[in-house]
Amino acid sequence: MCGIVGYVGKEEALPILLHGLKRLEYRGYDSSGISIRNHDEDPVIVKAEGKLENLIEKTNDGLLFHSNSGIGHTRWATHGCPTETNAHPHHSDDYNVIGVHNGIIENYQELKDKLIRHGYTFYSETDTEVLIKLVDYYCKKYKQGPIDAINKTVVRARGSYAIALMCKNYPNQVWFAKKGSPLIVAKGEDGCYLASDVPAILKYTKNVYYVDDFECGVITGDEVKFFDLNGDDITDKKVLTEIDLPQDSIELKDYSYYMEKEIAEQPRAIKDTIDKYLTDENKIDFPSLGITQEFLNNLDEIYIFACGSAYHAGVVGQHVIEDLAGVNVRVELASEFKYRNYKMNPRSLAIVISQSGETKDTYEAMIKAKKYGIKTLAICNVKGSTIARDADYNCYTYAGPEIAVATTKAYSCQLIVLYLFALFLARTKYAIDKEKYYELIDEVKEIPAKVTKTIECRKQVQKLSARFTEKTNVFFIGRGIDYAVCMEGSLKLKEITYINSNAYAAGELKHGTISLIEKGVAVISIATQPDLLDKTVSNMVEVKARDGSVVALTTKGNDVEGASKYQIYIPDINPIFAASLAVIPLQQLAFYTSLNRGINPDKPRNLAKSVTVE
Ligand code: AGP
Ligand code: GLU
Repeated sequence: MCGIVGYVGKEEALPILLHGLKRLEYRGYDSSGISIRNHDEDPVIVKAEGKLENLIEKTNDGLLFHSNSGIGHTRWATHGCPTETNAHPHHSDDYNVIGVHNGIIENYQELKDKLIRHGYTFYSETDTEVLIKLVDYYCKKYKQGPIDAINKTVVRARGSYAIALMCKNYPNQVWFAKKGSPLIVAKGEDGCYLASDVPAILKYTKNVYYVDDFECGVITGDEVKFFDLNGDDITDKKVLTEIDLPQDSIELKDYSYYMEKEIAEQPRAIKDTIDKYLTDENKIDFPSLGITQEFLNNLDEIYIFACGSAYHAGVVGQHVIEDLAGVNVRVELASEFKYRNYKMNPRSLAIVISQSGETKDTYEAMIKAKKYGIKTLAICNVKGSTIARDADYNCYTYAGPEIAVATTKAYSCQLIVLYLFALFLARTKYAIDKEKYYELIDEVKEIPAKVTKTIECRKQVQKLSARFTEKTNVFFIGRGIDYAVCMEGSLKLKEITYINSNAYAAGELKHGTISLIEKGVAVISIATQPDLLDKTVSNMVEVKARDGSVVALTTKGNDVEGASKYQIYIPDINPIFAASLAVIPLQQLAFYTSLNRGINPDKPRNLAKSVTVE
């Protein structure tokens, strides 16, 4: 949520800041702003409501103001409407401190009251203005440098923050601090940078420091310094990491939308993920990550914590792990679980799934498991992200940067890691024999080619999408793994078309929802599981009997024509891995329906790619 950028160096700062903000747009925002500052001159602050284009226009493409240092921000409003006044940067009245912030300061009212008593005036409704003015207050009160003032501020502020500040008497320096919100600092040939995420700086450098919670520091034109809460210099302890991402991995290339590009990239992403874990001898290389057979042998139970689509991947994983390895799995919505008084089993493993690795709810569920002494395994797509850094084991997905708000390729790679984990566990526990193991591994290796084949149903799905453009209600029904895919298909549709849709376990239909079925109501029924096929077909027939319009999504060879109006067939696949194919037409359906409705599928309203608030 929101994006922060900062630059100090030899180049013009403004175009670099705007480029960085553009690259962070995917995170979601509703207004934006920049500030640049030259020694002995009044700083420039420009803010704009709405799209970043408005800010770019106000600064004449970044050519209007000149400086070698500055900060920028895209805001996702939490405190106060997305107006120009509430947009960042905020500043003290005398411009001693100018700053941007990502996160939420929970005790902002209390701090605001204190500052008002000390003569401060507030112009915005934001918690951020309080934070910036508190730094100013401590700068002036103790007449010490910014590090001291920042540290005094952050120990008093409850909540989460990543901040970037410029201070009057420190030209060509940008100060930063972080707790709970992402922040990286980077060093290039022409200067130093800071940003909420790597895409913002990838054009200039690949050398990055990950800022840890409770650290602060400063970038100048040629160096980065880090300090701890005591104000001690800890720069020597920090490690400069080289980012392993080509710059063109975040370009649109020949596509019009990132979501379209990311759907098409799935065969490659899935193959890369399989290749990372499978050895030439078809062994699954989880031991090299530190996950030993002995540890897995002693497991009673597995927890999976995640939100949104990652949760849906977790539900598929639950079926696959239970079916193959015979270990019970509880999948929990992280945002709910962290507030439950559930006594966790110490002989368990907690798997946390998160594309961004920054989702606060998921992070906190992971921390809860850790408090029980339970080992945590993260399935993240972003190296060095907060969840990845604090987990005991990491099984990364290799989807590459995912820019569209609605996840596609990261979800597909999460499924792959869960399949491989289930197979590794199954073999470790002798739940399947060698023959079965190698047979299943061969089937996993065929998934990329089958996904390519499934993507070919694009034209058929695009045609079908015309029938969904004007719908106000869509239902998804399925059983077992198919139900898990229904949840994902339904979320995709809601997110980017704004059509209300609901996923129901097909067997639940008769327990209430069937009262909503009437002429023309669209019901997408997923039926890829042979054991459950007859039962799901009966549910389709029940819908048809009430004049509902059924779209059947099934595996080639299944007879569903009598029970449905339209059929989409996916290639033949072992049912245990069918989610990897069944989800593709649903991603495409959401994508094309979104376009039909005149919505930009990459940037649906109100949503953020990385949800760093509760
Ligand atoms: C997916 O399309 C959504 N944008 C959303 O549900 C997402 O999956 C959820 O917020 C979790 O994000 P994460 O994977 O980065 O933790
Ligand atoms: N809480 C701050 C505000 O509402 C920052 C929000 C953000 O992270 O963009 O301005």
